[in-house]
Amino acid sequence: MSPNITLFIENDYEQLSRKAARIFADSVRTNPVGSFGFATGGTPEGMYTEMIKMQKAGEADFSQLTAYNLDEYFPIEPDHHQSYEYFMANKLFDAIGLPHDKRNIPRGDAKDPHIEAAEYDVLAIGSRIQMQILGIGNNGHIGFNEPSDYFRGATGHVALTQSTIDSNARYFDSPDDVPRHAITMGVKTIMMAETILLLASGEAKAPILWDALKGLITPLVPASILQMHRDVIVVADNAAAKHLAAV
Ligand code: F6R
Repeated sequence: MSPNITLFIENDYEQLSRKAARIFADSVRTNPVGSFGFATGGTPEGMYTEMIKMQKAGEADFSQLTAYNLDEYFPIEPDHHQSYEYFMANKLFDAIGLPHDKRNIPRGDAKDPHIEAAEYDVLAIGSRIQMQILGIGNNGHIGFNEPSDYFRGATGHVALTQSTIDSNARYFDSPDDVPRHAITMGVKTIMMAETILLLASGEAKAPILWDALKGLITPLVPASILQMHRDVIVVADNAAAKHLAAV
């Protein structure tokens, strides 16, 4: 494993969530008004629940940071129950008291997704993200940077692959409702974060986590670029880390 990657293997999802929340809180403590990157999806939900507990118990203060989310479906109304804006408000931001003007998420209702993406890129890069939370797709995507023959650099308007559409379908009433496009931070934008905090849970992620951390660095596995980042913390549960632990 690349020496720039620190791997924590936890027994189960609950422990993974607690560990990730503690690592994140330690980073926020060094600069409570800093910029931090957030992800949606199932994996960080437990971590967000832990963060809310820490905030309520007075063990951490997440209310002063500035948040930048990785991605948003396009098009989608921000108040749609499957928008990432809605997700973040309900799973974390409202409960930690994060003011609305500190919540940055690409706008799913922007007039022009390309202009929105370009403006968001400038904002995210200019903010110097201290720690970026990431999940990993079954196909190795980070944000919505899907497998491709090149690493997408800047934030952009992207088409989702069938594998991602299928995996997102669990959240929608009907498969036809699943968005086909998104605005996502690009790989370059993600790589500019000072520290990356990658979470992976469950056996289904085990093969792709191995590919990402120990396999060839290739845009066919977008997360493999993280091997080139100077400071990556991976928190995985036993199931997701099973191939890593075996080597
Ligand atoms: C979410 C995101 C995606 C997810 C990935 C894993 O903002 O950008 O890359 O992190 O699809 O999703 P889950 O955690 O649902 O397995």
